[in-house]
Amino acid sequence: MHSFGQRANAIVTFSVTLLAVICSLASFSDNFNTPSPSAEVKVSNINWFQKQRNGNDEVSLTLNISADLQSLFTWNTKQVFVFVAAEYETPQNALNQISLWDAIIPAKENAKFWIHTSNKYRFIDQGSSLRGKDYNLTLHWHVMPKTGKMFADKIVMSGYQLPDEYK
Ligand SMILES: *[C@@H]1O[C@H](CO)[C@@H](O)[C@H](O)[C@H]1NC(C)=O
Ligand SMILES: *[C@@H]1O[C@H](CO)[C@@H](O)[C@H](O)[C@H]1NC(C)=O
Repeated sequence: MHSFGQRANAIVTFSVTLLAVICSLASFSDNFNTPSPSAEVKVSNINWFQKQRNGNDEVSLTLNISADLQSLFTWNTKQVFVFVAAEYETPQNALNQISLWDAIIPAKENAKFWIHTSNKYRFIDQGSSLRGKDYNLTLHWHVMPKTGKMFADKIVMSGYQLPDEYK
């Protein structure tokens, strides 16, 4: 005869095991989801473009960011962190990456959006090499699962150029 305590213990052990199995199935099933996110970023205005007193160039942009990240969401997705960065080369660095905007997407319903916004974080070059600069805008995402490994990827949009003159 099992005592109540032994029985309760057996039930707890069984539930914990079951939970572990469900969790590994959840993160495993994520491997079968091949997401197809899309994004487009338009620079709708150069608000101003100046050389600061300390010699660094700074630009303020208005961006229209549209994205459909719904396919990143599975039943195992807790939230998605997304950010847009400007990436460009300078003689000093092969890759300069400046985050311009970010957001946390809590649910699939919020994952298809567009936002018209000026850059949330400052776009400053340490030097003064932004005039006429070619750059890419990349939309990066980090998918935070309820269980299992986080994964990250990005969409690169190329062919942007800053003006030759300050304004
Ligand atoms: C931003 O882009 C979206 C999708 O291309 C478009 O529907 C929307 O009208 C644009 N908004 C502005 C303010 O330009
Ligand atoms: C910008 O994108 C192009 C095309 O994908 C790529 O060849 C280039 O290396 C990128 N530039 C930077 C600075 O990442």
